[in-house]
Amino acid sequence: MRGIILAGGSGTRLYPTTLAVSKQLLPVYDKPLVYYPLSVLMLAGIRDVLIISTPRDLPAFQELFHDGSHLGMRIEYAEQSKPRGLAEAFTIGRGFLAGEPCALVLGDNMFHGQDLSRVLWRAREHVERDGGAVVFGYPVRDARAFGVVEFDEKGKVVSIEEKPEHPKSNYAVPGLYFYDSRVSDIAAAVEPSERGELEITSVNNVYLNRGELTVERMGRGMAWLDTGTPEGMLKAAEYVEAVQARQGYYVAAIEEVAFRRGFIGASELRVLGEGMPKTDYGRYLVSIADEAEHNGSVVPKDVNGV
Ligand code: DAU
Repeated sequence: MRGIILAGGSGTRLYPTTLAVSKQLLPVYDKPLVYYPLSVLMLAGIRDVLIISTPRDLPAFQELFHDGSHLGMRIEYAEQSKPRGLAEAFTIGRGFLAGEPCALVLGDNMFHGQDLSRVLWRAREHVERDGGAVVFGYPVRDARAFGVVEFDEKGKVVSIEEKPEHPKSNYAVPGLYFYDSRVSDIAAAVEPSERGELEITSVNNVYLNRGELTVERMGRGMAWLDTGTPEGMLKAAEYVEAVQARQGYYVAAIEEVAFRRGFIGASELRVLGEGMPKTDYGRYLVSIADEAEHNGSVVPKDVNGV
């Protein structure tokens, strides 16, 4: 399975902070926002990732991740010249996907929770085995700003509506989607919505109408954090700080995830940590390498969702 991170857009809701810098490169506590969605793809075992961003911002992402080989990954880059909509990710990414199934994560979506790895593996296996699409439903107080799932009385999905004025449930669809190999063809046939965007919700409705869409409900033990506003960014940073300070385990340390997923070994992890000697982040990576080398083992895999 391959992964796409869509990290473009104009970030207008965070002006003036994003006038000159990509939203997805802003810090959430101690690391760039894009680390969080990248870690989600990595937790799903995905090593081939395409990052899509604006012509202005793409060089900064390249400087951040290079070709991904230091993480045991292959990271490629592609431009989206204008924010025409999320579904365009699959036509831009058609060559990269090369007919493989894929996961799309939005570059500003953060997930964290005990069960995250299992949820991701289940979705991946479902799509690889049976085809179709898997998206998620997450309960929110006000669903009007999102794609919203409508269920019938038996819990079957009836519709997904984009930003409805009167949501038919409180289940929003987060920016994380798993699709089979037909997604580029389906996305290419999508027409712009009333607000002029190629909607991911239109792609999901094609799968729904074919009876091939699964909506997995995410439980209350999962955190899906909002980064849409300055307050959202601050609260997300506070969440990460609180978890890390309390547990001692980091959220979305991509080098750690690469190690625990077996993309790199302990000696490579050490080199990455030693490259940031002045930070707690760097020392944390070195401590994991130490522990693994001294004990010949690593912390159990489900710790911190990893
Ligand atoms: O966050 C989940 C929601 O994301 C879903 O519930 C909605 O169904 C989905 O449409 C989307 O809604 P948003 O209003 O949050 O999408 P937004 O336009 O803010 O774009 C999400 C991210 O994707 C943002 O970081 C910018 C980036 N983006 C957006 C567009 C439209 C691109 O890179 N290219 C684009 O063309």
